[in-house]
Amino acid sequence: MGKLIFISSGKGGVGKSIFAANLGATLGERGLRVALVDMNIGLRNLDIYMGLENNVVFDVTDVLNGVVPLEKALVRDKRLQAAWILATTQRKEKFQYDEDQICGLYAELRSRFDFVIVDGPAGVNNELRMASASADLAVIITTPEYVSLRDADMIDQTLRARGIGRRVYVVNKVNKNFMSVGVLPTVEQITGIMKIPLLGVVQYDDAIHLSANAGYPIVLQKGNYIERNFGKIADRIIAL
Ligand SMILES: Nc1ncnc2c1ncn2[C@@H]1O[C@H](COP(=O)(O)OP(=O)(O)O)[C@@H](O)[C@H]1O
Ligand SMILES: [Mg+2]
Repeated sequence: MGKLIFISSGKGGVGKSIFAANLGATLGERGLRVALVDMNIGLRNLDIYMGLENNVVFDVTDVLNGVVPLEKALVRDKRLQAAWILATTQRKEKFQYDEDQICGLYAELRSRFDFVIVDGPAGVNNELRMASASADLAVIITTPEYVSLRDADMIDQTLRARGIGRRVYVVNKVNKNFMSVGVLPTVEQITGIMKIPLLGVVQYDDAIHLSANAGYPIVLQKGNYIERNFGKIADRIIAL
């Protein structure tokens, strides 16, 4: 049975989808079977970050409605040894399912993949409840800003109340220059604020941003520090 990793945040735009894409690419490069599932309902973008937007024909609603079997809706990323994506719907009003249906889909994904990485929505709402159903691990993404940290803590409490026992966080868009002059909280200060274990940090780097916009997760560029960083994060995820 594969593990379902739910990528979450309180505040939007903190880097959930970029993180999901790069983690998925890192694990998929290693030959682990990975399904990247976009559950940011109504706001599809993981397919663009993975450069697969022209290959998406069916989405998660087609699978849930029984229009096509799961394998028809999964789009293979041929650059990687073993990674597939499942796109979300662009039409939020079409997404009328109950939690049992989502759990059923997740169970099917778990039976076929080593890791199911669910790119979730921002905020505390019904979409969060649906997308986080039956998660084995929640990775909460935050940036080093007080608003983002407060929202991350709120999501942490919500996911805990929902019964997701394993929760870790990632500090994304880390800028050491701003931290060192005291205008942004340092990673050490953040670990004092957050109540759950730190999974890793990712620097602010325009290369991450530009690469994702070109449909190319930056970890595919071998030998840079970001690839090594994600390598360590993937090691920890595998060990959890
Ligand atoms: N570590 C980073 N360094 C620079 N830009 C980043 C980084 N992580 C994310 N971004 C940029 O921030 C924006 C939001 O990222 P995205 O992954 O779409 O966030 P979310 O899924 O949380 O809404 C995008 O423009 C993305 O390219
Ligand atoms: Mg996103």
